[in-house]
Amino acid sequence: MTARTSDIEKAADVLRAGGLVAFPTETVYGLGANAEDPAAVARVFEVKGRPPSHPLIVHLGGAELLGDWVEDVPATARLLAERFWPGPLTLVLRRGRRVPLDATGGLQTVAVRVPDHPVALALLAAFGGGVAAPSANLFGSVSPTTANHVRAELGDAVDFVLDGGPCQVGVESTIVDATGEIPSILRPGGVTHEDLEAALGRPLAVHATSRVRVPGQHPSHYAPRARVVLVEPEKVIAEAELAQELGHQVGVFLPSSFADAPVKAHAVVALPASMAAYARGLYGFLRELDQRGCDLIVASLPVEEGLGLAIANRLRRAAGPRPTE
Ligand code: TXA
Ligand code: MG
Repeated sequence: MTARTSDIEKAADVLRAGGLVAFPTETVYGLGANAEDPAAVARVFEVKGRPPSHPLIVHLGGAELLGDWVEDVPATARLLAERFWPGPLTLVLRRGRRVPLDATGGLQTVAVRVPDHPVALALLAAFGGGVAAPSANLFGSVSPTTANHVRAELGDAVDFVLDGGPCQVGVESTIVDATGEIPSILRPGGVTHEDLEAALGRPLAVHATSRVRVPGQHPSHYAPRARVVLVEPEKVIAEAELAQELGHQVGVFLPSSFADAPVKAHAVVALPASMAAYARGLYGFLRELDQRGCDLIVASLPVEEGLGLAIANRLRRAAGPRPTE
């Protein structure tokens, strides 16, 4: 889906005036502000309920703009940008002077990416500058993959919502720390570990915990209201039925290998066999089970290769301890 030109112009005007625009990317919807406007960036944190120490991603209209926003571009970062942009890859690099500390949570590094979505690229071209944007959800909750998810969760707090249809990747970008000699993955996402290693021609570490504060690495992030329990794939049905008998309203993520099995539960999501389809649907499935009144979701982890790595990472976060515990 492509937004009307008049909508793109209006959204760019809202950004210029210091307002907030929710916009589609290939991964999830972003909540955007002019990256160079500290007051607008502050509103992003306020609307999300996100602590100001947690840095945002600066979205750019093309890889050729990278040099304007970062201090230097190491050869590895250039290689990755050329290979994967526009696309679901975020590079963490040394902050250029153009980026206010408000957008980086006070860090001397900045996360940048060029999204692969016609509406996002049209908005970035019309606006001309960098758009600082986290995912357009409340802090800690599930990222939005449709414009309706954004409207339902953030409502009037957003000045303008650009509707670009459902997101095609469905999980957030892969974040690579490219500041040093040896890059590493800070968050698995839409570009796979395997594709990154192939492009680099050497192994790449996944740092699930890093020195840097990455909110996506907190326990209980990307979480629905319902509690999420992870079990072995062959135990999903028995676990779900037991919890249902005990009085829970159980939602089940039924692995594709058990597709036709009957399950006595409140709601069942039959997972697609393809990891791309699973990633695309993941956040919508979690939201759907919340909406259907489930208080418990029983799921299992997919094999952690390809997009399965990002899906498993998000499911673990969703199952993590809640702040009140
Ligand atoms: O796909 C995506 O990445 C989406 C779309 C909208 O682009 N955005 C997104 O933003 O997921 P957010 O704010 O929900 O997650 C951004 C992640 C956070 O985990 C943040 O900590 C990390 O990027 N990040 C930002 N700047 C960083 C930095 N300088 N060093 C390390 N991590 C950083
Ligand atoms: Mg987020």
